[in-house]
Amino acid sequence: MADEPFSFTKDGFLAKASKKSPMLWRMIVLVFAMVCGVYIFSVCLKQIGIGTASTFYSIQVADQPCPEPTVESSERHYIHYPKPTTYSRAECRCNPVRFFAILSMQRSGSGWFETLLNSHINISSNGEIFSNKVRRSNITAIEDTLDRIYNLDWFSSASKNECTAAVGLKWMLNQGVMRNHEEIVDYFKRRGVSAIFLFRRNLLRRMISLLANSYDQNAKLINGTHKSHVHSPHEAAILAKYKPTINATLLIPQLKEVEDVSNKALRFFKDTRHTVLYYEDIIKNRTKLVEVQEFLRVPVRELKSRQVKIHRGSLSGQVENWDDIRKALNGTPYETLLNTDYQI
Ligand SMILES: *[C@@H]1O[C@H](CO)[C@@H](O)[C@H](O)[C@H]1NC(C)=O
Ligand SMILES: *[C@@H]1O[C@H](CO)[C@@H](O)[C@H](O)[C@H]1NC(C)=O
Ligand SMILES: *[C@@H]1O[C@H](CO)[C@@H](O)[C@H](O)[C@H]1NC(C)=O
Ligand SMILES: *[C@@H]1O[C@H](CO)[C@@H](O)[C@H](O)[C@H]1NC(C)=O
Ligand SMILES: *[C@@H]1O[C@H](CO)[C@@H](O)[C@H](O)[C@H]1NC(C)=O
Repeated sequence: MADEPFSFTKDGFLAKASKKSPMLWRMIVLVFAMVCGVYIFSVCLKQIGIGTASTFYSIQVADQPCPEPTVESSERHYIHYPKPTTYSRAECRCNPVRFFAILSMQRSGSGWFETLLNSHINISSNGEIFSNKVRRSNITAIEDTLDRIYNLDWFSSASKNECTAAVGLKWMLNQGVMRNHEEIVDYFKRRGVSAIFLFRRNLLRRMISLLANSYDQNAKLINGTHKSHVHSPHEAAILAKYKPTINATLLIPQLKEVEDVSNKALRFFKDTRHTVLYYEDIIKNRTKLVEVQEFLRVPVRELKSRQVKIHRGSLSGQVENWDDIRKALNGTPYETLLNTDYQI
């Protein structure tokens, strides 16, 4: 080590200072004590929070928290104040937002149901987002997509952005829901997402719709365009002209499989906040739509859809091999599917 210019060894310093000037020594001690005092005082100030209070105040000015909503504590978990990254919620910044997902199966009326919900000025149901395989390739991709939807950063023709009070999507059970059910249930619980199950009671009618829709993907009956949903009785009549043939041997196992999937889904999601709806019940009784709006806690309005039902009237006229179907189902638990009819 190089020589130090001053020797600060304890003995040498003390001996010299006290010998030369006791007064100077006292002054040094006094100044030292004052510096310590000031330092301790400033530390204390920080700890009792005067310092943090001022930073808190500046955060508040830039971004005032919304007033606590007046709801029961059990509801608190389902209320959100998203802060979209791409725009400002402006005057609706403090309107609470609920998260939902319509969990359904193809050809169960979910397209129609979604247009009804989207006719509400405060509901944004963003469509079948997970029909895109990349978005459901793993749970990370699924959660990232859900995060964007629930943060109001998803843009579709249905998104109402700033004044949305309920935001969600339509999600088919075979689009990653069943495969990733554990993580999705966790996500729903963690983030306070409500599930709306939409099933169809008459699975035979569903099967006819499924076969006809799949046929039209190639046949393109309406002027060379494939349509899953139509907006005029004329278009509906064109699509309904096609009568599928149902494989009678496979019919019962297929009906059973569909039932099993919906029962399983209900079991998986039983501990989430959820409601179960049936397409037929909504058609028969529009009061169900009031219940859905109450479930989503949005102001109740009359909901409208321009969609027209494709297959109407008696089932016997809708399939090619009606006699085979009747024979296959007679005397089984599925017999009632042959008879239930409804008018709309
Ligand atoms: C999840 O899927 C996305 C999109 O396909 C992909 O980019 C990503 O690497 C995958 N992550 C994992 C952990 O597999
Ligand atoms: C619904 O939307 C309207 C119009 O954008 C808005 O004024 C109203 O505050 C919204 N209501 C709720 C409950 O968010
Ligand atoms: C098919 O196209 C013709 C000519 O463009 C149009 O008049 C007709 O309404 C279309 N039919 C349907 C069912 O859309
Ligand atoms: C019904 O499906 C089974 C199994 O795929 C097949 O063996 C049978 O030929 C089909 N029947 C008809 C009439 O297509
Ligand atoms: C319609 O549904 C409501 C609620 O579910 C029920 O109270 C009412 O009795 C139903 N009306 C008819 C005509 O079934």
